[in-house]
Amino acid sequence: MIQDTSLRTSQDFIALEDQYGAHNYHPLPAVLERGEGVFLWDVEGKKYYDFLAAYSAVNQGHCHPHILKALHEQSQRLTLTSRAFYNNVLGPYEKFITNFFGFDRVLPMNTGVEGGETAVKLCRKWAYEVKGVPTNQAKILFVTGNFWGRTLGAISSSTDPSSTGGFGPYMPGYEIIPYNNLNALEEALQDENVAGFMVEPIQGEAGVVVPDEGYLRSAYELCHKHNVLFIADEVQTGIARTGKLLACEHEGFKPDILVLGKALSGGVMPVSAVLTSDEVMLTIKPGEHGSTFGGNPLACAVGMAALEVVRDEKLAENAERLGRIFRDRMQKEVVEKHELVTLVRGKGLLNAIVINDTQDSKTAWNFCLQLKENGLLAKPTHGNIIRFAPPLIMTEEQLHDCCDIIERTVREFER
Ligand SMILES: Cc1ncc(COP(=O)(O)O)c(C=O)c1O
Repeated sequence: MIQDTSLRTSQDFIALEDQYGAHNYHPLPAVLERGEGVFLWDVEGKKYYDFLAAYSAVNQGHCHPHILKALHEQSQRLTLTSRAFYNNVLGPYEKFITNFFGFDRVLPMNTGVEGGETAVKLCRKWAYEVKGVPTNQAKILFVTGNFWGRTLGAISSSTDPSSTGGFGPYMPGYEIIPYNNLNALEEALQDENVAGFMVEPIQGEAGVVVPDEGYLRSAYELCHKHNVLFIADEVQTGIARTGKLLACEHEGFKPDILVLGKALSGGVMPVSAVLTSDEVMLTIKPGEHGSTFGGNPLACAVGMAALEVVRDEKLAENAERLGRIFRDRMQKEVVEKHELVTLVRGKGLLNAIVINDTQDSKTAWNFCLQLKENGLLAKPTHGNIIRFAPPLIMTEEQLHDCCDIIERTVREFER
């Protein structure tokens, strides 16, 4: 609990962050102190629908009792041993998660970006040891608009100036090709030193950009034709968010390397994982990669509980069903009736609306401020796009309630 009784209002807390914290974020002015299920409460006691779910980390809803039980029980036995020793939760977790997603092996890490870095390292190692690419010549292909985090490895593949500006020099061995363009991929794949193609099945941070149907499947087949690993960054799209356990399932294939994060812990702590085949995973030998916290017993217990919730509460099915209702309502009641919103798009419960805003880039921000006033929290991503990604445990009634709030806000905003 916060002991300092002089801190009461949202403004008090905002002022503290402003004075003592780095200014690397621009949050909406909601100071949250409690979460339960699909709801959040601020320090003034106002209740909100969470329509962002911590960027899809809280798919299971806030403070899910099954996940918290695993956290509490394991935290009283053993939290961290490092990988200098074995622990009695890692093996069971590894068996559980590899069976859950259908892969041979897993490498546990903590944050999503570490998962991405691990995937790139595995891919390079495989290129040298299995594919036969000459030393230090391996190339990884990325697409325009990608986002996989903030390390130098990740921003080196970014096409967003606010990610890259002022942080060079960048990582060599990357090539960036246009997203959703199979000709560009095929051309890039002519280079025999290409080891991998890393892609988000739906680009979350870029504004929930959904590629053409068939793009991912064809990209996967092209990669295989050229002996190149298809790396799916499902940190945001995975774990039921898009209406399937993995977004790649929409196109009926399994990636060669899968990166997961965020909802792998239900938002309780940073837990990420890279899953792949024996052939790829076993190229990394003892001492060649690791993390003090990766695979810690607490994370393993939480990870299993978080996936059990996804399975037992049928969150993929719920996301698929509610996503259709949501887009249908937004299309009929908002896009077709109001000039303010030009488009709704997405899959499952990963959706976005595009605000009609060619002049004033503040419109989406102001719209989110008004949504907040009306009891729903969401945030613009990239100017005039607002991502809508509530916890997947939402009920249909709650979803309709949220649609009511959005529609009311559109009407108020247009007045
Ligand atoms: C697709 C994708 N990959 C990777 C990441 C990085 O995850 P983290 O912030 O946990 O490092 C994100 C974060 O938003 C993401 O959306």
